Amino acid sequence: MTDLAGFVAKLPKAELHLHIEGTLEPELAFAIAERNGLALPYPSVDELRAAYRFSNLQEFLDVYYACAGVLIESRDFYDLTWAYLERAHADNVRHAEIFFDAQTHTARGIEFAAVIEGICGALDDGRDKLGLTSRLILCFLRHLDEADALETLAAAMPYRDRIVGVGLDSGERGNPPRKFEKVFRRAREAGFVPVAHAGEEGPAAYVREALDVLDVVRIDHGNNALDDPDLVTELARRGIPLTVCPLSNLKLCVVEDLASHPLKRMLELGLFVTVNSDDPAYFGGYVNDNYVAVAEALGLGEGDIVKLARNSFDASLLDEVDKARLFGELAVAVTSLERSDDGSNP
Ligand code: HPA
Ligand code: ZN
Repeated sequence: MTDLAGFVAKLPKAELHLHIEGTLEPELAFAIAERNGLALPYPSVDELRAAYRFSNLQEFLDVYYACAGVLIESRDFYDLTWAYLERAHADNVRHAEIFFDAQTHTARGIEFAAVIEGICGALDDGRDKLGLTSRLILCFLRHLDEADALETLAAAMPYRDRIVGVGLDSGERGNPPRKFEKVFRRAREAGFVPVAHAGEEGPAAYVREALDVLDVVRIDHGNNALDDPDLVTELARRGIPLTVCPLSNLKLCVVEDLASHPLKRMLELGLFVTVNSDDPAYFGGYVNDNYVAVAEALGLGEGDIVKLARNSFDASLLDEVDKARLFGELAVAVTSLERSDDGSNP
């Protein structure tokens, strides 16, 4: 028997729910702060890491936005993104769809151009040097007003060829999807693919609104959709992907423990689920750690894990040709694992 971690590691996969600012490891945060002559609100790497104890989404966001404050120059965004791509490559991630929070940076006087050029420089190198493809999704911060999101969309227009989608993140409670109806309509008209965080801390009604008002093609998290059976039926019937993040849910107390995580129930209900890391530097694990932890806690079998990896490609924004190539790579990996299991491929 291949061990669970070894099995997960060998499967090619996509990651579809990943905030680039959430990949800022404390060591890199301190290194970038130092070269920019800035101080973090924590005296050391260890003390910063020790602050990663959250009892809800907002407590996390407070630390996450504070740390993002060290990112100033284009090369800071390059280094951040490159560090993630190397980690993802080590986890056999073949394709990543990456959120960035432009407003977190432009609000501090950083040019949109510096952010996007740094990130895209690393994404291009990821493609050329690691064979890892990617797509970039501009997230609007839902705690800010829609006018701010509209300005951000306008700032993104010159980079239309580099940004494939728009998303919605930050504090969910009290910030329903309908608050962003107009900016999402404009973004869709401009050809951006719409996705949104919904049902992480917010109710099933926010998932419904994201579908009906924002016209999203994918839901990020979606846990609380399970409270509404009609909504579950619709999500399953329409094949709307959910980008689920088990270790994030644990760290932000969306679930009490991983044994009560809804992922297995979601699979049983026929929902189109994928596994992702969200903000891995803060939540104690990259994507493979998420697969292993949730599979162990819920007793998922190898078949379930392969299905999750397959879903990750299928739910991506890649075209059908690229998807077919990646399905093929996954099938080859599975065959090779089966052979090594029966002893014919030591
Ligand atoms: N939820 C909402 N907003 C976020 C998150 C999250 O998990 N991570 C970064 N911004
Ligand atoms: Zn997220």
